[in-house]
Amino acid sequence: MASLPYSAIRWAGALALGAGALGALSGPAQAAADGRQISTQGANGAPACVTCHGANGEGNPAAGFPHLAGMGAAYLAEQLDAMANGSRVSPVMAATAKALDPAQRQAVAAYYAGLPAPLNVDRLAATALHPVKPDDTGAWLATRGAWDKNVPACNQCHGPGGIGVGANFPSLAGQPAAYIAGQLRAWRQGQRPPGPLGLMPAVATRLTDAEIDAVSAYYAGLPKAADLLAAQANAAPGAKQ
Ligand code: HEC
Ligand code: HEC
Repeated sequence: MASLPYSAIRWAGALALGAGALGALSGPAQAAADGRQISTQGANGAPACVTCHGANGEGNPAAGFPHLAGMGAAYLAEQLDAMANGSRVSPVMAATAKALDPAQRQAVAAYYAGLPAPLNVDRLAATALHPVKPDDTGAWLATRGAWDKNVPACNQCHGPGGIGVGANFPSLAGQPAAYIAGQLRAWRQGQRPPGPLGLMPAVATRLTDAEIDAVSAYYAGLPKAADLLAAQANAAPGAKQ
């Protein structure tokens, strides 16, 4: 390069810049396309995400794989970063997250954020209006909380029926019970970053093991319970068809 005149170097640089800007896609559209490709084919040796998280990011509750579709892009990217740097301990995801570079993590996060959540939000939200008995620990925690130990209702932050709220409060409904319980225990043990305002470590450290299991089972089973409630409402005499 030393023998090239300065103007030639400038010109080569401009050409390289021009080629980038003239690409068929740029910005968010490019990121979505890359993200889709990573999800279906993997990248840099990371396996295709669809194998575990489903063709549309709907997850696989029976196998314990969480849904990703419709969650906040920043939330998903942060989780991938945390699993890559080890601050969120995940034996299953660590190598995959590490294989992707930061731009690829952002692209695949944006792709999943753009897919519709696999949740019937109206039916799920309706479950929050259903009466709950205090001895139904999971439902009580989700809808009422445990004010004697400063635990607000989970639904207050995660939305009625755990449908998720905005970019910061992920959906819980339909996530595998073992996954939900695993995350709560990870916060208790310092194996997941505190997240916004340290809200979840504060919640998780105040729950007993029995409460963690009950509330996890509650959210895991909520989509089915919501369908059942809707069917009963339709079957009731005088119900709107
Ligand atoms: C072998 C199965 C498998 C593959 C392949 C896989 N995942 Fe995962 N993923 C999991 C499991 C299991 C978890 C739950 C993590 C845990 O329990 O530590 C998870 C968790 C996640 C989370 C955290 C979700 C949340 O709600 O916080 C994100 C984000 C994620 N995976 C993205 C991806 C992406 C992107 C790919 C593809 C590049 C991918 N995963 C490939 C199994 C997999
Ligand atoms: C004061 C608000 C608040 C309350 C109350 C709350 N959460 Fe959360 N929760 C959050 C925030 C914020 C996050 C995202 C954390 C992050 O970004 O790391 C979160 C994340 C989670 C996650 C991780 C989801 C995933 O996809 O990995 C689980 C599981 C969870 N909460 C369960 C619960 C349960 C169960 C309760 C009730 C006992 C509850 N939360 C109450 C704010 C709250």
